Amino acid sequence: MMKDMMQQLRDTAISAILKAENVESLEAMRIKYLGKKGELTAILKQMGSLSPEERPVMGQIANKLRSDIEEALDQRRKDLEAVRMALKLESETVDVTMPGKDVREGHKHPMYNVLDQIKDIFIGMGFEIVDGPEVELSKYNFTMLNIDESHPSREWTDTFYFKDDSSICLRTQTSPMQVRTMLTRDVPIRMIAPGRVYRKDEVDATHSPMFHQIEGMVIDKGITMADLKATLNLVVEKLYGEGTVTRFRPHHFPFTEPSCEMDIRCHKCGGKGCPTCKGEGWIEILGAGMVHPKVLAGCGIDPDVYSGWAFGMGLERLAMGEYKITDLRLIFENDVRFLEQF
Ligand code: DAH
Repeated sequence: MMKDMMQQLRDTAISAILKAENVESLEAMRIKYLGKKGELTAILKQMGSLSPEERPVMGQIANKLRSDIEEALDQRRKDLEAVRMALKLESETVDVTMPGKDVREGHKHPMYNVLDQIKDIFIGMGFEIVDGPEVELSKYNFTMLNIDESHPSREWTDTFYFKDDSSICLRTQTSPMQVRTMLTRDVPIRMIAPGRVYRKDEVDATHSPMFHQIEGMVIDKGITMADLKATLNLVVEKLYGEGTVTRFRPHHFPFTEPSCEMDIRCHKCGGKGCPTCKGEGWIEILGAGMVHPKVLAGCGIDPDVYSGWAFGMGLERLAMGEYKITDLRLIFENDVRFLEQF
């Protein structure tokens, strides 16, 4: 009786296994026939009803059956694998006579060309390039730069904050790098700090919620406005050519006193007025000034002993001028048709 059942199981199982079409159905069969709740186990459960003489005989038959089924499973697995491999080899044949794929080489983004030029100029004058976080303490971005709580640039409508108490923000300018540098380095300091800054501005031809600035700062004994003017004049001559004329207009920034903005005479029209300078004859390049004594003192530098100057300029604006681009969006869109022209 039990012997017949085992014989039948042997016939159906082995022929089914040898016809299995894939590894998944093969595994299903292993479970069906040999699993804990499988057919062989079910038959073996009846061992208890056999006589002591029959039991070892049936046991032996059962063991043989199990190993035969396992062998069939193994055999079929190998066959299926061989078929799979043959198909794979066939589908992946390489025609070595096919022409190769063209590798398109990229190049530096035009704005970074301008940044590298500026870095080179400042490195040549002994400046250090420093880097800092874009997620910044409001304390460094505003408070320690003498920008008090009531200043409009601190509004939620202008600045991206991370916390309800507005203590952490996306930096709105690279000027917090002035504070960070003064807090971590010994005087004298000569640094520039390029990087991304963020403001809640809608995207249009001249605005973007993310843009780049370059901050610069010098702190030493006896530094004056004359140093600021001489250094920045030299920088624009290197950038725009010898004899580039500059003009310094009084301005206001909370963290410098006195403060100014620097324009260059339009390098396109020589000052007559053209589309590049929007008919003004001058192009505004940067904001600058003498570091406010309060800012120095707040960073642990004695304003009676040391003085310094600082500037901040917009990198996109500079690149747009250099490459005669009138729409800021082109700089960020990463359209290769635009980028490959530079
Ligand atoms: N941080 C200013 C801005 O975003 C630019 C600036 C002005 C930076 C004067 C300076 C400075 O270091 O001295 O408008």
